Amino acid sequence: MNSAASRSGGRFAGKSVVITGAASGIGRACALRLAEEGADIVGLDLSAEGLGALAAEVTARGARCETVVGSVADLDVVAAAIQRATDVFGGLDGLVNNAGIGGPMQPFETVKSADFDKMISINLKPVWFGMQAACAPMRARGGGGIVNVASMAGLRPNRNHALYGMTKAAVISLTHHAAMDYARDNIRVNCLCPGPVETPIFEQMRAALAPAAYESARVRVQHRTLMNRFGTAEEQAAAVAYLLSDEASFVTGIAMPVDGGWSISDGRV
Ligand SMILES: NC(=O)c1ccc[n+]([C@@H]2O[C@H](COP(=O)([O-])OP(=O)(O)OC[C@H]3O[C@@H](n4cnc5c(N)ncnc54)[C@H](O)[C@@H]3O)[C@@H](O)[C@H]2O)c1
Repeated sequence: MNSAASRSGGRFAGKSVVITGAASGIGRACALRLAEEGADIVGLDLSAEGLGALAAEVTARGARCETVVGSVADLDVVAAAIQRATDVFGGLDGLVNNAGIGGPMQPFETVKSADFDKMISINLKPVWFGMQAACAPMRARGGGGIVNVASMAGLRPNRNHALYGMTKAAVISLTHHAAMDYARDNIRVNCLCPGPVETPIFEQMRAALAPAAYESARVRVQHRTLMNRFGTAEEQAAAVAYLLSDEASFVTGIAMPVDGGWSISDGRV
């Protein structure tokens, strides 16, 4: 579905969506999926090059794409992306708080205070304040949809990955609370909990570990899924599109695992 004709009849025709971390992986797949279904996109990312490539791909699908280069840790940058949607596209219908980093893998008691602050500043605080900035323009449209990208790591602990898991568990809790506050405004707030997904985020793990340790960590993660495989970014984007769409009109406050069965796995493959 990538013609202008399919766009005009798509689930997101006439809608605009802001996506953080849009230059790579799950964020990029969300941007392309939503554009195929009619949405205009504002992509925010650290990578100007990645956003340039994304804009070309979104435009090729017949949608409009604005880009904002910067870090979500700068809350003014997040607010600027939302403002861009209202300035250029006339309003805001969707927000995907997706930008995130894997952070250090190390035993609990060796974690440094600076790493703690960094993880909060990228994985958590922008989610809160992004939602805060989005609510006024969404109210002006009569409602909207927000998807916060958490992780299965926010529901089940992973050894030596406490900082990451903590931020993702907090994103889930934050989603529940925001869903309570915004339901009266017809703003639905949900959370995606991906299992392992083949994206460049694993390069952070590869850089931090010796090759053998990296390979065994990957196999361990894969074996925690019932399907014994990594998922794709496109499988995550399909779930995000559902959660943002009117088909999910009675769905708010959930943490949806898209995880190959990780959440019910007994660890056997
Ligand atoms: N890949 C997985 O297995 C997996 C599993 C569960 C959850 N997640 C979550 O999904 C989200 C996307 O991850 P991904 O796997 O697509 O990773 P990715 O590394 O492919 O993409 C992340 C994007 O976010 C951007 N980004 C990172 N820090 C940023 C910052 N400070 N400001 C703006 N942009 C920033 C990066 O430049 C990159 O384009 C993350 O929140 C991650 O925690 C991923």
